[in-house]
Amino acid sequence: MKKIGMLLGSIILASALVACGEKKEEAKTEAPASEKLSIGLTAYKFDDNFIALFRKAFEAEAAAKADTVEVTAIDSQNSVATEKEQIEAVLEKGVKAFAINLVDASAADGIINLLKEKNVPVVFYNRKPSDEAIASYDKLYYVGIDPNAQGVAQGELIEKLWKENPNLDLNKDGVIQYVMLTGEPGHPDAVARTKYSIQTLNDHGIKTEELHKDTAMWDTATAKDKMDAWLSGPDGSKIEVVICNNDGMALGAIESMKAAGKVLPTFGVDALPEALVKIEAGEMAGTVLNDAKGQASATFNMVVNLAQGKEPTEGTDLKLDNKVILIPSIGIDKSNVADFK
Ligand code: BGC
Ligand code: CA
Repeated sequence: MKKIGMLLGSIILASALVACGEKKEEAKTEAPASEKLSIGLTAYKFDDNFIALFRKAFEAEAAAKADTVEVTAIDSQNSVATEKEQIEAVLEKGVKAFAINLVDASAADGIINLLKEKNVPVVFYNRKPSDEAIASYDKLYYVGIDPNAQGVAQGELIEKLWKENPNLDLNKDGVIQYVMLTGEPGHPDAVARTKYSIQTLNDHGIKTEELHKDTAMWDTATAKDKMDAWLSGPDGSKIEVVICNNDGMALGAIESMKAAGKVLPTFGVDALPEALVKIEAGEMAGTVLNDAKGQASATFNMVVNLAQGKEPTEGTDLKLDNKVILIPSIGIDKSNVADFK
């Protein structure tokens, strides 16, 4: 069934592309210079809070250039096999450059080989391939954030709130008893945020005790379920701080606490619009900017340049550091949330 769905997807894509090829022909007789640039965009899954924001911003950039650029967007549905088949199909139709959000950042080689064979440039975003993988193809670039810096920024937000509010230390032992909801296991952002948030607190002399840590796969509903179980478990009343690798999960944890009649300082990452509203209302303690718009804009402009055979950052303010652009991470709490809304 899945296979049929995928095939159908490819056929629909193929006919869309054929149709656009026909349009190109028509346009050619009138205005030869206006042939559209065909670029590809993939997402590990469309149904992800952060990726949805990125895609919206990317497609808005494309809509502003709709007379010259044409985007084929594909949902890899969190499957490495689907991702590969779809990329192959779109390459076959002749896209000039790709923006790719890998399903598995540690398994980029297969995709890179496909692109190399067709000599098609690529900007990976959000899920960073290894340095070796980045070095393995001269037409490969990456746009993302520095995940370590995001962990540090989150740790600093927690430190600030903790120091300002001695009453947060419910059992008065001078130690933060926390629970941690993590993203997908092995995802570089999840690993780094988990490590550096706590390490920053400890490096700054604040002791911590982990009551629970588990993955909620970046997902709101899964996070709510995990938090429900922790709150109703034997440690439920000991929790002092809730730390989440992203806002999607923080929103799930907050829902769970609401249902249990609890209010605990909860921290996320991403600066989703919904999270900023909660921070302003005092229902969430803090988040870290993951600037979906900035990353989408950088990725789009680089892909369009590459599709035209130009240098990736030509005509932009973007600065590449060895083929990579990392957008700054900024801690956001009640004191500065207004600047980000
Ligand atoms: C974001 C998450 C998102 C993930 C997807 C992370 O950088 O913070 O919200 O689910 O990327 O890869
Ligand atoms: Ca304590």
